[in-house]
Amino acid sequence: MQIQNASVSEEMHLQLGPFQGITDVYFRQVYMKHFEGIDKLFTPFFSGIHKENSKNLRSDEIKPALNDLSITVPQILSNDADEIIRFSSQCNAMGYNEINLNMGCPYPLVAKKKRGSGLLPYPTLVQSILEKLEGKLSTGFSIKCRLGYHNADEIDELIPIFNNFDLSELIIHARIGKQLYKGIPDFDRFKAVISQIKAPLVYNGDIFSSDNLDDYQAKFEFINSWMLGRGLLADPFLPSDLKKIHNVAENDNRKEKVRLFMNELYQLRREMSNDNLSVLGRMKELWSYLRFSFDEPQTVWRLVRKVKNFAEYESATDAIFNELYWVGTGYARKSEIQLTEDQ
Ligand SMILES: Cc1cc2nc3c(=O)[nH]c(=O)nc-3n(C[C@H](O)[C@H](O)[C@H](O)COP(=O)(O)O)c2cc1C
Repeated sequence: MQIQNASVSEEMHLQLGPFQGITDVYFRQVYMKHFEGIDKLFTPFFSGIHKENSKNLRSDEIKPALNDLSITVPQILSNDADEIIRFSSQCNAMGYNEINLNMGCPYPLVAKKKRGSGLLPYPTLVQSILEKLEGKLSTGFSIKCRLGYHNADEIDELIPIFNNFDLSELIIHARIGKQLYKGIPDFDRFKAVISQIKAPLVYNGDIFSSDNLDDYQAKFEFINSWMLGRGLLADPFLPSDLKKIHNVAENDNRKEKVRLFMNELYQLRREMSNDNLSVLGRMKELWSYLRFSFDEPQTVWRLVRKVKNFAEYESATDAIFNELYWVGTGYARKSEIQLTEDQ
């Protein structure tokens, strides 16, 4: 069957993928204030929604006042239809229009319990979950999945099941679960399934530069919705570069914009956590991507990796921004950079 994919339109649509521990509500807020080009964002996944008025949904992470409800999609990791229904109803009460089901998380502890990408080898289970959701959801419903867990053909049995359900969107990270985040996406498999999928389709995986996107666009002619991940964490200008928004500054100005963004995010996280030292872990996690966009990623990492308190963090980041050069598109250049064991 040849289906004209519903995502065809003139405009390029860009999404920010969820990253547990990194793209929290503060990241999303400060990022959207400083940078252009992102049309839609996803929260890192929620789980354990055991009751109505769940405690897990009373955090800042999902508070309507702190999120842009029109473009933010809360995500759930679950294989329990009742839990997904509860999540949808609570998100609807807060004003969200859509929820997203995580069928992509690759971690063995999650996958072993038939959650995340661990659901992909079980089409009958997926079908029974989706059937139970039918007519019971209070919001739109999208799925983020991979091509499979063990192999990239598992998606073939899932497509007719997805096509039977009114999905607001299907996002495919074109890897398999067993790969984790390694190797390269399976471009041929993704291309092969495009015409079979009824829902608006979003491509995800290894979009690190405009050259990458040109290449994928040439391969997948009907796709114009793209989810960005590590490429954006390494270079926050990626979406505006992909969209060729030309009012973005030259490299030195770019470094100053990144400095402002990182400082504001750091200050906000400190303020909201009452100066909890866990802020340092969160900032280091982000630096582990951002470092690749500087001329000396090893130096960035050496400076930041071992900081133990706020004063050390501030002097390390001052040194980085004062002494190093911003080159951008860090994740596209990562493979050329020699890292030692602890880097
Ligand atoms: C540390 C980490 C945390 C992630 N957390 C989530 C998550 O909570 N939900 C989700 O759907 N994907 C999660 N992802 C996957 C990313 O959203 C994205 O799909 C993946 O990095 C592939 O895109 P990329 O190749 O452009 O980076 C995570 C990835 C990493 C590396």
